[in-house]
Amino acid sequence: MNSYIDFHSHILYGIDDGARTIEESISIIKKLVKIGFKEIVLTPHYRQPYFKNNKEKQKVLKELNKELKDLKIDVKLYLANEVAITTNIIKLIKDKQISLLNNYLFLELPFNSKIHNLEKIIYELQENNINIILVHPERYSYFTKEDYQKLIDLDILFQVNYESISGKYGNDAKKKVKYLYKNNLVEFISSDIHHENSNFYKIFSKVERKIIKIVGIEKYKDLTYNNMKKIID
Ligand SMILES: [Fe+2]
Repeated sequence: MNSYIDFHSHILYGIDDGARTIEESISIIKKLVKIGFKEIVLTPHYRQPYFKNNKEKQKVLKELNKELKDLKIDVKLYLANEVAITTNIIKLIKDKQISLLNNYLFLELPFNSKIHNLEKIIYELQENNINIILVHPERYSYFTKEDYQKLIDLDILFQVNYESISGKYGNDAKKKVKYLYKNNLVEFISSDIHHENSNFYKIFSKVERKIIKIVGIEKYKDLTYNNMKKIID
């Protein structure tokens, strides 16, 4: 069985629109572990109306880890956030409102409207030694090939969602993710899983085959494990 790491998930219960109860968190994790996920980064939304601070999130994580230990489920969890872009991210970090994975920030953009001060915000974060992982770049409808290249040139790392290739987010996202795979612009693939009744587990192997067909097996291992392992370690 292959090993996977997940860099994007909404499994931490009661924090955002993801898992609602500890039972649901456990159910999702069990299904991911069965597929082969060994390490999972928890990235609850930090945006309207979900503004739980680090202390609150760590408390839930502690309870979840205790339950996993009792159930002898072997998985490593890490706390981060999916942060909707705003101009005060540095302050949110200092105030312990949001969590990063080491010094990597998971950044989300609006789906349908372009942010005009994006570069300014990126520069400010980088000046503060923060690396930026842009979550699901294939889902921003207004993005052009030039936008992708501009961000790559600014050292932004792209994390795409497994299910984009299957059309879960529409045809445009499917087309965009294919472009990103074909042009070697992706660093990580992740689940963005929210609920136990997700289709993710059912279509995983089909999605996997589709991606491998484009990027090849060695690259696929980088995108689903090796690149993430380097950052975690
Ligand atoms: Fe997400």
